[in-house]
Amino acid sequence: MTALPLDPARLRALFPAFAEPSLQGQAFFENAGGSYTAQSVLDRLEHFYRATKVQPYGVYAASIKAGEAMNESFERIGRALNVSADWIHFGPSSSANTYVLGNAFAGWLKAGDAIIVTNQDHEANTGAWRKLSKIGVEVREWRVDAQTGRLSLAALDALLDSKVRMVAAPHCSNIAGEINPVAEIAARARSVGAITVIDGVSYAPHGLPDLAALGADIYFFSTYKVYGPHQGVMAIRPSLAAELPNQGHFFNDTKPRYRLTPAGPDHAQIAASAGIVDYLEAVADLAGDKVEGADPYRRAHAAMRAQEIALATPLLDFLRKKNSVRIIGPDDPAERAPTISVALDEPGAVVAARLAKHGIMAGGGHFYAQRLLEAVGIDPDHGVLRLSFVHYTSPAEIEQLIAALNAELK
Ligand SMILES: Cc1ncc(COP(=O)(O)O)c(C=O)c1O
Repeated sequence: MTALPLDPARLRALFPAFAEPSLQGQAFFENAGGSYTAQSVLDRLEHFYRATKVQPYGVYAASIKAGEAMNESFERIGRALNVSADWIHFGPSSSANTYVLGNAFAGWLKAGDAIIVTNQDHEANTGAWRKLSKIGVEVREWRVDAQTGRLSLAALDALLDSKVRMVAAPHCSNIAGEINPVAEIAARARSVGAITVIDGVSYAPHGLPDLAALGADIYFFSTYKVYGPHQGVMAIRPSLAAELPNQGHFFNDTKPRYRLTPAGPDHAQIAASAGIVDYLEAVADLAGDKVEGADPYRRAHAAMRAQEIALATPLLDFLRKKNSVRIIGPDDPAERAPTISVALDEPGAVVAARLAKHGIMAGGGHFYAQRLLEAVGIDPDHGVLRLSFVHYTSPAEIEQLIAALNAELK
């Protein structure tokens, strides 16, 4: 394995789960379903519940502190994404957030407009938009290659014209793992006057992106997969957010942060999300001068990606050599996140159950990307085996996984 920029022991000391007695010997390969929570997040959550669990943004000291703790999250999550705080909206989950956005777009688009959706996405970034056909919006499908599960820009180009007002695509598929070229997708959409909605749920755990560089108009992710609490973040270009019709109470129409998240905010979890940024800064510190980047967030991103590429290399080498294994998405670790799905003769969940006996925590199924599985010829009920890890996974856990796969795969 090539040199790791991050010392696994020091990283793992930042997560209570790795010290939890009941989890000893259990190697976690289900991170794409939800990551372990950083101590910095738990500390903020506990502090909020203990010291400031009152109505925020009021006139008394505890209330003012609660509001300040929430504002800190808006500011610092924005900074980590290289956008201003007014881009940031917190809702209950990414699926709930896109559901609300779908309703907002129903009032923003008109019959005869076209939108582009993919069949690579998790249902959260496609079902909500496909429903717009009910109001006469033309839905065009950007389809994956049936063999590899990959999206090509040439296929997107063939769908774009001046009728298209929105392109929805994943930064990274939760099955194919491929890192899609968001900056190119957004530039192409812009060239015909369309906005871009990017699902970053499967990308953000591998380093928060620089949204100014990507150029997407909406970028969303789920903080419970990024070492944080169970929330969904939507970064929305403020000028677009202002154009979208209000989805909240009518008297909140003039409050930008209340218009697109009608669920009452989870104050404590919003405040705790600043702990994600604390964690990213700690990762940048741990990496020291082993990585480059303009700020701690770009350095954390570079360190996390380099770490994951080094860890994924032996696993992909092993999987590539197994004739009974079909890897969905690219097999080059540099082109993908370490969310590695494989199609096997047996159903994914059956093999996952056997891996559990080797102390491997993994899952099988379609993971709500049913359309993608169908597109690459896999029955969603049969499903794939998904092995998903992140930068805190240790080389020893990768070895444990390879040994378990060696014992259980044909
Ligand atoms: C790629 C992707 N998009 C969207 C979602 C939905 O996120 P949430 O659970 O926050 O609704 C998931 C959840 O697994 C996902 O993997």
